[in-house]
Amino acid sequence: MSVITLTLNGELISGLTGQTLLEIIQEHDVEIPTLCHLDGISERGGCRLCMVEVNGRLTASCVTKATEGMHVNTHTDKLIKYRQMLMELMFAERNHICAICVMNGHCELQAMAARLGMNSVRYDYLNPDLPMDASHKRFVLDHNRCILCTRCVRVCNEVEGAHTWDVKGRGIASQIVADLNFPWGSSPSCTSCGKCVQVCPTGALFEQGMTVAEMEKRHDFLPWILGGREKHEWNW
Ligand code: FES
Repeated sequence: MSVITLTLNGELISGLTGQTLLEIIQEHDVEIPTLCHLDGISERGGCRLCMVEVNGRLTASCVTKATEGMHVNTHTDKLIKYRQMLMELMFAERNHICAICVMNGHCELQAMAARLGMNSVRYDYLNPDLPMDASHKRFVLDHNRCILCTRCVRVCNEVEGAHTWDVKGRGIASQIVADLNFPWGSSPSCTSCGKCVQVCPTGALFEQGMTVAEMEKRHDFLPWILGGREKHEWNW
């Protein structure tokens, strides 16, 4: 890895080849919104909230490698406007009615909307009639709350190694599916580890029998598992 120099919001900074722009931006304590990104799993570049302007062009910073001489801006008027627009589109696409959601008050999507100053949705709500899958003995999948960030797909595949989850369909018809579109409760590959539930940023995946107040998700198992594996802590 070699050192590269780039400009971040008018300031000359350095990074390493191979790093993404998001990594470098975060290392320099510039706050940038993300939803599909989660430390410890691969990047998807799906939510686009982390987009930045590089030499005047928009790009998702989580999936863009930094290169020498880039001019990166993270909070131009255009970016602020587009991020708000993206949030509104996410809320318009499915049924995110926070007041009756199990994750109300603990939802990353809801918190992000507040953080980005979204106070209304200017687009027509699509209000799709999507099912819930409550066939699993411990967990529930509510497609209405899913933003298709695929954190569940990636953590199940990359950390648990089960690859129970995947995505079927295209565009707004896309849906998370267990195995070959089985009810979750009859999935032969699901280990019931609950990692997918913990990384889900919304109320799309949640634990049965918990109150709204208890519905706090934790990501801290990810660095613990990944760090332990790197150090071979569990190899006897
Ligand atoms: Fe980069 Fe979602 S965090 S596109």
